[in-house]
Amino acid sequence: MTPSRRDFVRSAALAGAAFAFPGAEWLGAAARRGAPKPFRSLPPAVQDDEAYWRMVRSQFLISPRGIYFNTGTVGASPRTVLDAVVKHMTAFETVFDAESVDVEALRRSVGSLLGAPPQTLAFTRNTTESMSWIAGGLDLQPGDEVLMTTHEHVGGMCPWQAVTKRRNLVLTQIPLPVPPTSGREIVETWRRAIGPRTKVMMISHVLFTNGLIQPVKELCAIARERGIITAIDGAHPPGMLRMSLTDLGCDFYASSPHKWLLAPKGSGLLYVSEAWVDRLWPTIVSGGWDALPDKAVRFDRKGTVNDSLYAGFQAAVDFHNLVGPERVERRIRWLADRLYDGLSRIQGVELKSAADPALRAPMISFTVRGWTTDDLIKALWERGMVRVRHVAEYEYHWVRLSTHIYNTPEEVDRVVALVGELAARRS
Ligand SMILES: Cc1ncc(COP(=O)(O)O)c(C=O)c1O
Repeated sequence: MTPSRRDFVRSAALAGAAFAFPGAEWLGAAARRGAPKPFRSLPPAVQDDEAYWRMVRSQFLISPRGIYFNTGTVGASPRTVLDAVVKHMTAFETVFDAESVDVEALRRSVGSLLGAPPQTLAFTRNTTESMSWIAGGLDLQPGDEVLMTTHEHVGGMCPWQAVTKRRNLVLTQIPLPVPPTSGREIVETWRRAIGPRTKVMMISHVLFTNGLIQPVKELCAIARERGIITAIDGAHPPGMLRMSLTDLGCDFYASSPHKWLLAPKGSGLLYVSEAWVDRLWPTIVSGGWDALPDKAVRFDRKGTVNDSLYAGFQAAVDFHNLVGPERVERRIRWLADRLYDGLSRIQGVELKSAADPALRAPMISFTVRGWTTDDLIKALWERGMVRVRHVAEYEYHWVRLSTHIYNTPEEVDRVVALVGELAARRS
């Protein structure tokens, strides 16, 4: 870095202490105790260099002892999110200093980030809950078919299994090519599977198994032409990919912002399109459940909830916007590309994720010849404290690595080198 850049990074970091973004107070106090200082923004010239990303990393509590490559299961929240939750909860417990959370402001910021009118969004605890609201809230008839792939997570799939059993529906799972080669191939696989009784297509926007980004917009258009309802398992994309829910054209979208958006654990979202907002039956009901003009907001009326999580959710959206959705997506996909390229050069590694970066979310899955996945994961843990996900579902047994903004190119290179050493031992 040139001296002027270095000076700027330093002065921006120092100046950051005075800025009022969520968590600034706490971070200011932490800074005085010698902990990393908060930041606000940097000019474009230095925004993408490693000094900037080190500063971003300093906003997280992740221990430097290990390498966290499992955002796909749950994200690590930045300090500002944790602080917002703790601050709200602490004030609440004093009883008389309790602060209210502006839930409608949160709905507006989430709507603007995800391209949806605020009133089409309801807050839930996670994707599993949101998908349960969708599957349980439709009037499906015996014999109706629900279509999905053989890459579904239990959280997106089981709500449909239960309703299938209860109402005598038909649940069909279609295999997808591994590794996926093109969006066209995915669309054609779905198109061939649609039958006369297909009433619902449950589509994972990003597959948890190998990070495939499915062509959801195209699939929703095909479904719409045939009068098929689309329920999207969108556990991953918010905070990972820039997106517009209205543009996708789906009927329903279920998500877990505690993954890539780094919100507090227990932050879920349910999107109900304008076409369905007054037709979906609520699963949990309280006063106002039938106030149709309130749109999806009526699904929020389910008794007492933990408002402190909303305070943290707002801080997570603010943090994401502060770094910038475009910059986040570019960085995490760049790290995943580096990982994919590194792994692809190792003899014995079999990649399960798409070779085409456009089809690939930052979750890379693979196996290594001569290694069981259990042994490989154990070796990665023992030798490098690398936290990964074992995709054991459907007997796939793949190792999955996720990259987020708190990961570094050095961590990626370290894991690639480790896998290389392990692969060489048994090839
Ligand atoms: C594709 C997919 N759907 C649903 C879920 C369930 O998410 P949650 O536990 O937040 O409900 C996950 C979790 O990993 C997932 O990957």
